[in-house]
Amino acid sequence: MPDKPEYLELLNDIRLQEYRAGIFLKAWADKTEHPGLKGCLSVVAERETSHGDIFDRRIRELGGTPEDKDDDLFHERLRVAESDMTDAEKIVQMREFQTRMTLPTVRMRYEEAAQDESVDQLTRSLIKWFTEVEDDSGASMRAVYAEIEGSQ
Ligand SMILES: [Fe+2]
Repeated sequence: MPDKPEYLELLNDIRLQEYRAGIFLKAWADKTEHPGLKGCLSVVAERETSHGDIFDRRIRELGGTPEDKDDDLFHERLRVAESDMTDAEKIVQMREFQTRMTLPTVRMRYEEAAQDESVDQLTRSLIKWFTEVEDDSGASMRAVYAEIEGSQ
């Protein structure tokens, strides 16, 4: 059995972050009546869930075991997503949650791992592809947020 790489913990944190984003973004997509926001959130939620699956699989391929950890911020995000707040209020809340993430963020950690030669090649390629998809999702969400905030 090869030794398990130490970056399995990062892969597990990505896995959890993605699965959870898939859940709260889907909850918001189901709730909103804004067609542009509903479409965008549905696409991004599906991407997040599939990223959770991909990292779950990669952890197991590397000999690890996916692990669950509690995350208070997830429960708060889900409560906001499912609530009767307006979309504009939810956008403000979601941004505020971003500022409360522990540092270094998972994003900072995977950007570093993508450049780290001690991380296996396939995992680094996976992280690079995943980063591009995350950037595209972020850009779509910012565009629709701007549209909603501009129409208030
Ligand atoms: Fe994500």
